[in-house]
Amino acid sequence: MKRVNKLPLTSDCYHWTRLAEVPWDLQKYWQQRYTIFPYYDEGIYVTQDAWFGVTPEPVANQIARDMGSIISKSKTTVIDAFAGVGANSIALALCTAEDGITPRWDKVIAIELDAATLACAQHNASLYGVADHIIWVLGDSFKYLDALVNAPHKLEDDLRVDTASTAVFASPPWGGPGYRTDEIFDLNTMEPYNLAQLHGAYRTMDHALYLPRTSDLRQIAKLVPDGTKIEVVQYCVEGASKAMVAYIPAAKDDDTYMET
Ligand SMILES: C[S@@+](CC[C@H](N)C(=O)[O-])C[C@H]1O[C@@H](n2cnc3c(N)ncnc32)[C@H](O)[C@@H]1O
Repeated sequence: MKRVNKLPLTSDCYHWTRLAEVPWDLQKYWQQRYTIFPYYDEGIYVTQDAWFGVTPEPVANQIARDMGSIISKSKTTVIDAFAGVGANSIALALCTAEDGITPRWDKVIAIELDAATLACAQHNASLYGVADHIIWVLGDSFKYLDALVNAPHKLEDDLRVDTASTAVFASPPWGGPGYRTDEIFDLNTMEPYNLAQLHGAYRTMDHALYLPRTSDLRQIAKLVPDGTKIEVVQYCVEGASKAMVAYIPAAKDDDTYMET
């Protein structure tokens, strides 16, 4: 697995300027484009699939601030495991420490499986002036994290980070817009990756999981040892919760968990 330099935008990367250009099932998302991307007109590019899952910029910025403060300052690298078109990676790269000047994270590693989506993320990050501050990886973040934890010697220098000083942000696909109809969203049946897969991949590091707003809190509570206080935050846009983020501390060898 290697970092990639700037990928070219492809015919799957779009910057629509008129409603007539937009496929009907994406029109409602495009009509919210200034809520999602306040600087859309600067030339933001998005793939068709990415419209469903992109984090609105105000939410991405607040999550970046919260990650910066909730997660210990001893964590200096952050991995965005599902970079998409870059909203969270950009916000993490822009986030500053308490002095308002120094970047909160020494290193931001952004991983994305789809080349066209990653090309949009890199392009969008360049509009915010942070493309060169992010290490971009085209590939499967589960494979990368497995190598990082179990076989770091296989990784190139830039990607071989110390897991003790690393945090993970994960905004996985939620299995399409169908999640909205569930009164309580079952994280064990989430597709293509369920809660156990996600937590299994990140458990040795502090991690933040971006999940449907109705996610089953009991399933999240089972991830942490008895008596642990965790933060689970609802992020709102225009008067409604958009998603929740569960901030989960790294597991320790002597942790004891609730019997299920
Ligand atoms: C919900 S979107 C992420 C949205 C992103 N936070 C943003 O604001 O644009 C999930 C992304 O994860 C990517 N993806 C799916 N499986 C992946 C994997 N195993 N490794 C890396 N990326 C993956 C998908 O291609 C998709 O772009």
